[in-house]
Amino acid sequence: MEEQRAWWKECVVYQIYPRSFQDSNGDGIGDLNGIRSRLDYLKDLGIDVIWLSPVYQSPGDDNGYDISDYRAVMDVFGTMEDFDRLLAEIHEKGMKLVMDLVVNHTSDEHAWFVKSRRSLDNPYRDYYIWKAPVSGGPPNNWASRFRGPAWEYDEGTGMYYLHIYSRKQPDLNWENPRVRQEIYDMMAWWGDKGIDGFRMDVISMLSKDQRFPDGVLKEGNPYGDGLPYYANGPRIHEFLQEMNREVLSRFDWMSVGEGVGVGTREAVQYAGYESHELNMMFHFEHVELNPGPFGKWNDNPVCLRELKEVLNRWQTELEGKAWNSLFWENHDYPRAVSRFGNDSLVFWELSAKMLAVCLYMMKGTPYIYQGQELGMTNFQGSSIEDFQDIEIHNVYREMVGSGRISHEEMIRYINHMGRDNARTPMQWDDTAQAGFTEGTPWLGVNPNYTWLNAREQAGRGDSVLSFYKQLIKLRHTMDILVYGTYRLLLEESGSVYAYERTLGDERLTVLCNFTDQTQSCGLSCRDLGTDNVLIGNYPDQNGTFRGNGPALHEEEDICLRPYEAIVLTQ
Ligand code: GLC
Ligand code: CA
Repeated sequence: MEEQRAWWKECVVYQIYPRSFQDSNGDGIGDLNGIRSRLDYLKDLGIDVIWLSPVYQSPGDDNGYDISDYRAVMDVFGTMEDFDRLLAEIHEKGMKLVMDLVVNHTSDEHAWFVKSRRSLDNPYRDYYIWKAPVSGGPPNNWASRFRGPAWEYDEGTGMYYLHIYSRKQPDLNWENPRVRQEIYDMMAWWGDKGIDGFRMDVISMLSKDQRFPDGVLKEGNPYGDGLPYYANGPRIHEFLQEMNREVLSRFDWMSVGEGVGVGTREAVQYAGYESHELNMMFHFEHVELNPGPFGKWNDNPVCLRELKEVLNRWQTELEGKAWNSLFWENHDYPRAVSRFGNDSLVFWELSAKMLAVCLYMMKGTPYIYQGQELGMTNFQGSSIEDFQDIEIHNVYREMVGSGRISHEEMIRYINHMGRDNARTPMQWDDTAQAGFTEGTPWLGVNPNYTWLNAREQAGRGDSVLSFYKQLIKLRHTMDILVYGTYRLLLEESGSVYAYERTLGDERLTVLCNFTDQTQSCGLSCRDLGTDNVLIGNYPDQNGTFRGNGPALHEEEDICLRPYEAIVLTQ
């Protein structure tokens, strides 16, 4: 079936985490005017859409994912006038802006919750999920996703409220039609301002199983896993179809949902071409591979066969039915080059480029997280004081405080998987604080900014940044990269990720070596039917033969050097 064209299939998205992007007034926190001063950088990179993590009024318990006023800008980020100016300039430069929509929960300082908790009979009581104690304790055993219990006892009215995240993030009650209407009105209000869509925070969690059953207990957690009862809940598709009818369909928007607990089967419902819900979903199967005994807290290497199994399944099972989103990084996961590539000095640059080829030549909309286009790496903390993230502090307190694991071991896991890896300030240049701020940054700058920064890479044709620019240009000029079908090659290989894309008579082949050793593919250009190098990450790959490297003769086995990535066309 011919894929229908849509602007959100053809665009490349760039995610900005505003706290860490660019500070303009020396208070150490990134802000809207800072972003505005960097729009030319983004334009030059070639991206089409900016996704802005939350900039709404918030007490900042979870860095803005705890919103106390959906229609105001948080003071530290600037004013509504600053926002309007930013939006206007983004549009003037021919780019679009997608906002973060966080409506599974609000802050406990939101006016709705302040009123809700006051009494049993106020009009806002049912905006949230309140339950009476059961045998003197919480209504069920659910764990908060930030550790500890998901229920907080509230003295005022003697009842518990649900908070799947922190206790300062009470869950909204989507069963209440008034809540839904408030949210749709708020979305339309932003739509009337001219924004271009929403990224929807934990959107798969809006509908809770109203029986609120206990979750299964897993080793190492005194609280039960409620995910099966709050992810992909009974009314979720009804709610999203309603949202689509009431708001989304009225605007020329893109919508992407954060799909916690979403597999391919569910994604086809949320983002199916016939579903009338969202344009696409983020899934997390690839970034959550290889959990250890402490879940995500581990430093296990990722196994390429498993990674291939996941990405391949998403590519093939959505084909013709729903659209994929392609990402390695966001503000909740570590840096890709440190996790899936190799951030040692020898291979850092090659592997950062290889990862970009591997993912962004696939079918779906590419998302680039700030600094990923420079190959920014994880940073190494040594004390808990080096971190700011609420999740990191909670898990540290729980695991180390209780003596379950040592300080050293926990810090190792945090350095490998912690969310602050993605949140260190953007590395603009080699001046103090990487050019991010003239003050003291809210979170320490990665010390490698002296050599790993945007200014250095902008001036160098073979930098990671220049490479991203080329890849983005390819996505904009070659229909096959957007609309071509995908087929896995070399399925059995545990070291090479290879696939082809096909559109009509056109074909291209993508070959990526995920190891630090040379790997033979066991295939020749003749086998593949492609022999021209479209792009590669070694300097000598151009034309039909590779200058100094092994030649790509028609009949010869293709050998990939360490972390080599190469895209071949007919
Ligand atoms: C999403 C956000 C994450 C936040 C959580 C609660 O997963 O990406 O940063 O902590 O939702 O809003
Ligand atoms: Ca600032």
